Amino acid sequence: MLLAGKRASAAATSSRRQQAPTRLAAPRASTPAPRGLTTTAAAPASAPTAPAAEPLVFSSTSTAAQASAASAAAAAAAITTHNAGGEVAVWSSVRPLCRLPASLDDPEALRAAARQLPGYEGWRGPQAEVLTASDGLPVDFASAERCLLALLQTPALDARLARFDATAGDAAAELRRAVEAATARAYGPQGDDGSPQAAACHTFLQRLLYRINRLNHFWYDDLSRYENERSPYCAALQDAAEGPWQRWEAAREGGVSGEAFKSMGVEELSEAVRSRAAVDVDPPASEVTLFLRDRLSLEGYRHLLAVGSLDGLVEASRQSRVCAGAPNPVSVMVFRVLMEEYGSGKLARKHSTFYASMMGQLDLDTRLEAYFDLLPWQWLAGANHNFLLTERRRHYLRYLGGLTFFEVNGPSVYRTYCAAARRLGLPPSAWGYWELHVREDERHGRQMVEEVAVPLMERYGPSAAWEVLWGYDQEVAMGRRAGEALVADILAAEAGAGAQ
Ligand SMILES: [Fe+2]
Ligand SMILES: [Fe+2]
Repeated sequence: MLLAGKRASAAATSSRRQQAPTRLAAPRASTPAPRGLTTTAAAPASAPTAPAAEPLVFSSTSTAAQASAASAAAAAAAITTHNAGGEVAVWSSVRPLCRLPASLDDPEALRAAARQLPGYEGWRGPQAEVLTASDGLPVDFASAERCLLALLQTPALDARLARFDATAGDAAAELRRAVEAATARAYGPQGDDGSPQAAACHTFLQRLLYRINRLNHFWYDDLSRYENERSPYCAALQDAAEGPWQRWEAAREGGVSGEAFKSMGVEELSEAVRSRAAVDVDPPASEVTLFLRDRLSLEGYRHLLAVGSLDGLVEASRQSRVCAGAPNPVSVMVFRVLMEEYGSGKLARKHSTFYASMMGQLDLDTRLEAYFDLLPWQWLAGANHNFLLTERRRHYLRYLGGLTFFEVNGPSVYRTYCAAARRLGLPPSAWGYWELHVREDERHGRQMVEEVAVPLMERYGPSAAWEVLWGYDQEVAMGRRAGEALVADILAAEAGAGAQ
């Protein structure tokens, strides 16, 4: 893992560029490979072998591009149907980490893929792994999550808590107890030990943050679900989890604090972003990349799409939160990129529609957040980090530094996914989202470097310019961690399916 203090050196930069991504929306995996990849776990016997495919031409007039555009147009018609709030899986999920979407056609494989964590229902490990709170009693994360869901939907929540409403008060007390125990464990000295107990605490906290953060977006559902969107209680709950988490992210081994960049001048910082981007646009293939390209099974590909759908189906929503304010050259460029993400105002061309179309080709559930229970906490951490940066103007430079990496690195990742899908014999509509992004993000990446990142650094000078590079490297590190977790999950799911 890259240490922030070494990032400014050419040697460290060069070394880092030997790593390769496995992201869907943001994550990027790298060497050292996920533990699962170092085993000899093979793809299921049913996985097709690589046929000799014609080289893919990335052009809007290609047959593949035209086919996926036609499929997206059909998918757009389905998206316009009413999205009843009760159909949104995340809100009806009252058995966290155990309840998987019924529409998936291989429940056994999915049960194997779902994390079984201490403190959650379904955990079958040794009792000694169960986390205890300061009162010495076990923490029940599943019950605490149910308390959170109930509180978020309680009308006039803060007024009820203020008058000591028994039901709301009991739920808040159970939730507070779980949050205190989880933060102490997850962000304490052993928080990164990879144990099931640490994973359970991270998972609980990231799910909690996501459920609060998602209220920043409109989900085209029942208006009563936004009853508590400005609740002081929810804000305090968010702070209780987010503050310790962010401090831990910056201090942990492999985290990026940005401290080393504070002494760099604007010219040096600009050159650092440009040199990183020059490598990230087309990094050398890694073991992970080769696995995805050559060995990923069809079920693995479906898993990839299912996890990525949390972002893919609402793509660019968070970017939309940073476009308001004073007119300036940077903000209009960010908005121009956003316009393309939103299909220039046409639902059939919106990138999320291409994602829905792609999922539909693989018989996946296209309801928003349907696969919430499949997400590893590392992936949710990336989403929550993005929420934090886009909801705070103070983090504007850091966010756009991260978005610069996201756009620069995307095409190389998506080329790998295109290759995997074509090897699996899937039609263009089942990988059209990737193909589209190879074409568009090459331009977005250049625009982000030269018309967003560098101008921002010049505008803000050495006192703040370093935050752009900080955001860039944080996106790399958090994406890499999420990618590793995802690949490990895919391997576990494939191994579980193979064992049955
Ligand atoms: Fe996009
Ligand atoms: Fe893009």
